[in-house]
Amino acid sequence: MKILDIVGARPQFVKLAPLSKKLRKEGFNEVIVHTGQHYDENMSELFFEELEIPEPDYNLGIGSGSHGEQTGRMLIAIEEVLLKEKPNLVIVYGDTNSTLAGALAASKLHIQLAHVEAGLRSFNKNMPEEINRIVADHLSDILFCPTETAVRNLEREGITKGVYLVGDIMFDALMHFSKISEKKSKILVRLNLKPKEYYLATIHRAENTDNYERLKNILTALSQLDRPVIFPIHPRTKNRIKELNLESLLLENIKVIDPVGYLDMINLEKNAKAILTDSGGVQKEAFWLRVPCITLRDETEWIETVKLGWNRLVGSDCVKIASELKSVREGEEVMFEDKYSAWKIAEVLKKVISGKGER
Ligand code: UD1
Ligand code: UDP
Repeated sequence: MKILDIVGARPQFVKLAPLSKKLRKEGFNEVIVHTGQHYDENMSELFFEELEIPEPDYNLGIGSGSHGEQTGRMLIAIEEVLLKEKPNLVIVYGDTNSTLAGALAASKLHIQLAHVEAGLRSFNKNMPEEINRIVADHLSDILFCPTETAVRNLEREGITKGVYLVGDIMFDALMHFSKISEKKSKILVRLNLKPKEYYLATIHRAENTDNYERLKNILTALSQLDRPVIFPIHPRTKNRIKELNLESLLLENIKVIDPVGYLDMINLEKNAKAILTDSGGVQKEAFWLRVPCITLRDETEWIETVKLGWNRLVGSDCVKIASELKSVREGEEVMFEDKYSAWKIAEVLKKVISGKGER
């Protein structure tokens, strides 16, 4: 059985790591295709190294571009690889343009398609990711959902066949690499930080970076907080801050650093007083590490984190960011944790192959 994984962006490398390890252990013939959507050393190669993911069999080197251009070039290049490799199954991850292109290419060639992190919805079609998820889910034969909410979202869209609740693959990754991070990461010493005496912030969502008012409000709020804010800056955000002339807002209180590797990131998250983010993955990691989180968005796909009290949705409102940060406390209960996601996915794939699955 040949399985072909399609990844391209930072969070997809994190999702691939535990599953790739498990699939190889179970004897699957795995081919990894990296679209090249993310290409900076600290957005790509560093993750393969730290997460011990085998070097991609193909790097398509697509790089950046507008949505249509980037996705179109991926589609052409992925199709070529699929025709050559003839995999039995393609796995796509999350909700990036690499997910969309991979899903389209595979389904047009009638290759069985599995989607890891299926069923997530923000119900905001202005988000490019929402479109990517909806298309990937509707084209997929096997849908691996991380939460019950995701299963219900699919049901509402009429998708009930091939749906499996398998827990969150990012939780598997976090549990495994958290221990390694404790041993290897020296980021707190390097940045001269004391636990719980700083905030950690990440921003990269288009709705924030591509909107002058929102970006300005968020940076203003960060610059006025009562503790230093460590800000590993996504290249998209760095570019937009420059283009929009907002560099003056990066005052002393905001410590801008280059994007960090996963091991340093976990360490920074774990020791932060609180996290401010618009990232999907970082919201979840804050929750699992029991660090209060302020989400710089108007909606979230990870509604459990909000319901259970660990996460507050504040949008880009400058006053609200500061006030919610003061009042957000540790949540009460913790749920949706299951570190056997990779195992469950592999079990489903074994059944599907031997014909005992639902399909
Ligand atoms: C993408 C995903 C988003 C995901 C995020 C994870 C889409 C539509 N968006 O957003 O869902 O949350 O990745 O980080 O797929 N750039 C570099 N170097 C790189 C990568 C990007 O300089 O290695 C710059 C380029 O100027 C590029 C911009 O960042 O135009 C945006 O990159 P892109 O991959 O298109 O989208 P992200 O914002 O990274
Ligand atoms: N991450 C990282 N270094 C950083 C920022 C994020 O290792 O400087 C990790 C983070 O811990 C999480 C993943 O990247 O595992 C999330 O990626 P991102 O926020 O780019 O995308 P999203 O999850 O929003 O799609």
